[in-house]
Amino acid sequence: MRRRDVVRGLPALAFAACAEDRTYAPSRVVASADWPGLGDADSALFPTGVQSGEARFDSLLVWTQYTGEATLEVVVVVWADGAWVEHATVSAPLDPDHEVAGTTHTPVTGLPPDAPVAYQFRDADGALSQVGHSRTAAPAESARTVRFGATSCCSAQGAPFPSLVNVAARGDLDFFVWNGDTVYQDSADNTAQMRSIWTRNLRTEGFRAIMERTPGVFTWDDHEVDNDWGIPGLISPAREQLGTDVFFEFACVARDPDVPARLWRTFRFGCVEVIVLDGRSEHDIDAEEYLSEAQFAWFKDALITSDATWKLVINSVPIAQMPDAYNIQQLKYEHWNGYPAQRAELIEHITSNAITGVMFLSGDFHHPGLYRVDAEGPGNALLDFLVGPAGSSLNALGRVIMDGEQYVWSDAAHNSARFELRPEGLGHVVWVTDEDIAIAEAWFDVHGTINFLDWVPPPP
Ligand SMILES: [Fe+2]
Repeated sequence: MRRRDVVRGLPALAFAACAEDRTYAPSRVVASADWPGLGDADSALFPTGVQSGEARFDSLLVWTQYTGEATLEVVVVVWADGAWVEHATVSAPLDPDHEVAGTTHTPVTGLPPDAPVAYQFRDADGALSQVGHSRTAAPAESARTVRFGATSCCSAQGAPFPSLVNVAARGDLDFFVWNGDTVYQDSADNTAQMRSIWTRNLRTEGFRAIMERTPGVFTWDDHEVDNDWGIPGLISPAREQLGTDVFFEFACVARDPDVPARLWRTFRFGCVEVIVLDGRSEHDIDAEEYLSEAQFAWFKDALITSDATWKLVINSVPIAQMPDAYNIQQLKYEHWNGYPAQRAELIEHITSNAITGVMFLSGDFHHPGLYRVDAEGPGNALLDFLVGPAGSSLNALGRVIMDGEQYVWSDAAHNSARFELRPEGLGHVVWVTDEDIAIAEAWFDVHGTINFLDWVPPPP
C-alpha cells in the first residue's frame, strides 16, 4: 500500500514556462566502461581501499592507506573521446604527520572539468591498490542536473551498511555527503583504537560501494570525537585533538596547514553551491552560538554571493524547529533549537535578501525526514532534509513527530538518500532503506514548495 499526496502546487504548470526558453547543454560525460586498472590489488599492502574528495573543476584529492615501506605513486586516467587516457603519474607521499597510519592525501591537478577520472596507487615494487573512480566537478555554467547522495550516523552495528550499496546501485553520483557521525569513537581510548574504528567502517561493502566511485564531501558531528562533543567541559582538549587528527587521517579532506581544524568550506558542482558547516567544534553555548562569529559571517556571505540555483547547506544537526521534547536540559544544544538568535538571524538574512534555493541537509537524530524549518513565517519556506542513519540505533520519534504539516514526513529506518537538483529549480529526493525500499520520495523547488510526496507507511 502506498500513499500518494500532492502536497502543494502543480509542478507541470509551474515549470511549463521554462520549457520554451530552456537552453540545452551537453549532458555529463559518462564512461561506457570502468577503467580495468593496471592489475589486481594487493589488499595486504592496501587494506582500506581508496577514496576521493575535494572535487573541483580541475582537481581531486585521492586517498589510500598503505602498510608497506616503498615509495608510492598514483596513476591517474581520464575518460576522453571514448577511451581512458593516461593523465599523469603523481608522487603520493604519506601524510607527514601520520606515517604510522600510512595514509596519503594526494592532490591531482590539471584535470578536465566534469569528467570521469580513475586512479590506482602503485608502490615502487609494483604492488597495486584497488581502482578508484571519481569525477571532477561540473563548471558553474553547466546546465545539467546534479546528482548526489547523503547519509549520517554509521555506527558499526549497522555494518555493512546496505543502504549505501543500494544508493550506489542507482547510478553514479557527482558527490556523496558524509553528514556527520561517520564513525563512533565513544569506546576508543587511544589513537590505535580510533584508527581501527575508521578502518572497520571504510572496509565495509557499503563504504566501498560509495567511496570507490564517488568523491566525498565531509562534515563531522560529535561521535567523530566522543558523545556530546561540543558541550563545554565534557570532552578534554586532548581528546578533541585526537579525534580531529584521526578524522583528517581517514576522511578524504584537505587540511589547511594554517587552520588545521577548519572544516567549513564551499564546493561548486554546476547549479549547486555546497556550503559545508562545522556545527560541532565551534559551539559557544554560553553565547548561544551554534557557529563561531567568523564561520557565521562566512556562511551568510556564501549564501548571498553565490549565483548558483541551489545553496545546499551541509548541516550536521537539524535546523528545523523541533518539538519541545527535544529541548530538555542540554539536549537543546544538540541542534539549532538551542541557538534561537543565530537561527532567527540566518532566516532573516535569507528572507530579507530574497535568497532562493537554500536547502539544509541534516543528520544526527537517527531518523529520516522532510521538515519545514518553521511551522509558519519565513522559515516555513525552507526545507530541512534529514538523512540517515545508515547504521545507528533508530529513533522511534521519527514515526511520532510526522504531522504532514511542518513535519511533512519522517519515519524510523536505516537509510541513505539520493538527490537530483536541476538548474531550472526543481529537485528530487528519494530515501532508500537497507532492504532497497524507496521509503519516500519528493519533488520540491527553490521556493520550498513540495510539489509531490510519495511515501510508504511503516508496517503496523
Ligand atoms: Fe548519530
